[in-house]
Amino acid sequence: MKSKTWVLRHKNDQFVKRAKQLGYINRAAFKLEEIEKKYGIIKKSKDILELGSSPGGWTQVIINSNISSNITCFDLLDMKIKNNRINFFKKDFLSYNFKNQNVRFDLILSDLAPNTTGHKSTDHLKISQMIFEIINILDSTIKNKGWFIFKIWKGEEEKEIIKKLKLVFNKVEYFKPKSSRQESSEIFIIAIEYQAYE
Ligand SMILES: C[S@@+](CC[C@H](N)C(=O)[O-])C[C@H]1O[C@@H](n2cnc3c(N)ncnc32)[C@H](O)[C@@H]1O
Repeated sequence: MKSKTWVLRHKNDQFVKRAKQLGYINRAAFKLEEIEKKYGIIKKSKDILELGSSPGGWTQVIINSNISSNITCFDLLDMKIKNNRINFFKKDFLSYNFKNQNVRFDLILSDLAPNTTGHKSTDHLKISQMIFEIINILDSTIKNKGWFIFKIWKGEEEKEIIKKLKLVFNKVEYFKPKSSRQESSEIFIIAIEYQAYE
């Protein structure tokens, strides 16, 4: 059950109010909107993979930012939106064999969030583990020059993640959107231009 403090904060949150006005499912949409405003990568991407897509706030931003991209979505929970450009897999992305599929993506987005324990370093380890899993399948999922953008909760595994990304991407940057709560340890990592082996 959601705590009283959460409910109060949520009710007074300007981004929650704006999301309602604009018809967005959630305030998470604004984080991707800010990322897109700065980097403009969604509008250039034909095939997009979204991990942790439900209920679909980010997917709404993708649909609005690019009129023709194909969006492959994975989540354990149902999406709240439908669109004929969305190919939704209701499953644990870890159980899917990406190595057997033909499509490669221009952009991989992850807003995955494991169930939290409230213990910061444990939660950080859990989300980092998911990111390491994605890094392990990059060679069979991302196109040459593709981008990988993901959320992480800050912590000590970050260094290792950045180190691994720097080996295969041209550039790696941090981004903290204004719509991300300042007190939250959440940060977005933007890995730019995958360098596939020739
Ligand atoms: C913060 S929410 C995503 C919000 C979404 N980006 C949006 O804008 O509506 C995180 C999501 O990650 C999903 N998730 C967590 N572990 C997962 C896994 N192993 N495979 C697929 N989805 C997972 C959760 O079910 C949850 O819906």
